[in-house]
Amino acid sequence: MCGIIAYRGKRTNAGELVLLGLKKLEYRGYDSWGVAVKEESRVKNQESRIFVCKKTGKIGELELKKLKLPAGQLAMAHSRWATHGGVTQRNAHPHASCQNRVVVIHNGIIENYLPLKKKLMKKGHTFISETDTEVAAHLVEENLKKYKGKVSREVFQTAVRKALNELKGRYAFLFMCKDSDVLIAARRGSPLIVGIGEDSEYFVASDIPAFLEYTNRVMYLDDEEMITIGDQHGFMNIQTGKPIEKRVITIHLKAEEAEKGKFEHFMLKEIMEQKETIHRAINQDEKLLKKVAKAITQAFGTYFVGCGTAGKVCMAAEYFFSNIAKMHVNSVFGSEFSSFQHFIKKGSLMIAISQSGETADTLEALEAGQKKGARLLTIVNVEGSSMDRMADLSVHLNAGPEKAVASTKATTAQLALTLLLAYCAAGKLNEGRKVLVEAASQINDMLNPRYEEHILKLAQQIKNVESMYVIGRGVNYPMALEAAIKLQEVSYIHAEGFAGGELKHGPIALISKGTPCIVLVSNDDTREDVLSNAMEIKARGGFIIGVAPKREEVFDYWIRVPDVGSASPIVNIIPVQILAYQLAVLRKNDPDMPRNLAKSVTVK
Ligand code: AGP
Ligand code: GLU
Repeated sequence: MCGIIAYRGKRTNAGELVLLGLKKLEYRGYDSWGVAVKEESRVKNQESRIFVCKKTGKIGELELKKLKLPAGQLAMAHSRWATHGGVTQRNAHPHASCQNRVVVIHNGIIENYLPLKKKLMKKGHTFISETDTEVAAHLVEENLKKYKGKVSREVFQTAVRKALNELKGRYAFLFMCKDSDVLIAARRGSPLIVGIGEDSEYFVASDIPAFLEYTNRVMYLDDEEMITIGDQHGFMNIQTGKPIEKRVITIHLKAEEAEKGKFEHFMLKEIMEQKETIHRAINQDEKLLKKVAKAITQAFGTYFVGCGTAGKVCMAAEYFFSNIAKMHVNSVFGSEFSSFQHFIKKGSLMIAISQSGETADTLEALEAGQKKGARLLTIVNVEGSSMDRMADLSVHLNAGPEKAVASTKATTAQLALTLLLAYCAAGKLNEGRKVLVEAASQINDMLNPRYEEHILKLAQQIKNVESMYVIGRGVNYPMALEAAIKLQEVSYIHAEGFAGGELKHGPIALISKGTPCIVLVSNDDTREDVLSNAMEIKARGGFIIGVAPKREEVFDYWIRVPDVGSASPIVNIIPVQILAYQLAVLRKNDPDMPRNLAKSVTVK
């Protein structure tokens, strides 16, 4: 949640530089934004100040051009996803202390901000926003009270560290002080990466693409760590103050991969990339796959953990392992894990599925499991992410950056890799590869302009409906849930997914004349039953949209998908992704940055 970027170096257009970087992070949060620039005084001995500008809404191109930013070599910017306090200019970040001496930007939630705020108010501090964040600026200012004028690097660092040690909750923070040339970044639970440019130039951001055009040499901040950046940098532990040595890592990510290219939206680009991302996901080191499969077969209970779409892939994993490896694995949403953590003991295995590797609920589940002795394994897209680094074993999706809020290519890559692992656990790795290679080549053929046009006709027909439903049986049940998420998040049409057999136990009452209902069909032993469920809906006036390898009698509209055996959930979800995208565009929604959402959910 929220995008953070800062720059400290020799360039004098730091403000502009961080705002351009922030645009690349906007998918992380986009209800409001702001920038702070340490303005150098042109007159000797005159105080320098921190220029702050904040606005509500997305960062418009026009706004950027119109902004008159002062020159400066130190700046930071933030795009917000509000948790505490409405979406107003006042609540947008950066937040400043009373004398504008300390300025902060923050990602996360400060759980104990209320008692701290009361305490600081008693000491005479005046708060102007409703956010939890502002308390951090005042706390640091309070710690600097006895120092008048310029402060040394050590003094500022100690004041920040002391303040951080009073805060409860997960966060990523950046601090600037008008009486110092130093930038401080700190992390507990939310991502922050330091980029090292040429000539003592530093970038700090919540994601690498924000500064990738300047450098691909990075250092990761871990939890409970802070970095102080002057002409040189120093890492230290927030609690103990002990210095920490860090390795510089070179990232092999191309800046163009994180751009839209010829596509109008990232979501469409990422849907189309599925022509190759299935191949990339299954092209794994055989030894690693076998190691993971062995960990699953030997574990004393395996728990797949994920949220949202990744949570639905975890549910699909239960079906894959049951059908293919005849094994029982559990799936739990990250946010629900605490109710099940007492089952975890030494020998248990937790497998986190995540695109970003930063989702707070999933991370917290992993941390809880780790404490109880579970072995941690992750299936992640973002290399170097928190989950990737905390796991005992990690398998990468290799799907390339996914920027649209709605997950598409990462979802199918997760499905492909999980299915392959189920085959591997059954001792049938080659068979699994064959099934998936065939599915990948069929997807390549399927994603053509005629296919898109066929789905567009349907989108035009149903674009004004109030509600729609999706049903599936077997592994198509979690896919029905996933299909509903896709439709909800970008089209804003009320959509719900059900297990086909469950409809008659209640939800069928929702069907009336013309209600669109998508039926996900695979050519397996669930086919006949789900078609009967479709008949039941049709008998009540429902408009049946079949996603199936064969045209069936009951369909009012048929979207063909290839018959790819056990990989069918992968191909079945793709037309729904396209439909959701087209509905969003027809309804004039922004499919890449849908309302109320953010790409990386780093708050609980
Ligand atoms: C997907 O379309 C959603 N935007 C969302 O449910 C997402 O899958 C979820 O927040 C988990 O994210 P992660 O894969 O980065 O952990
Ligand atoms: N809790 C802070 C706020 O509501 C930070 C939110 C964010 O991570 O964007 O302003």
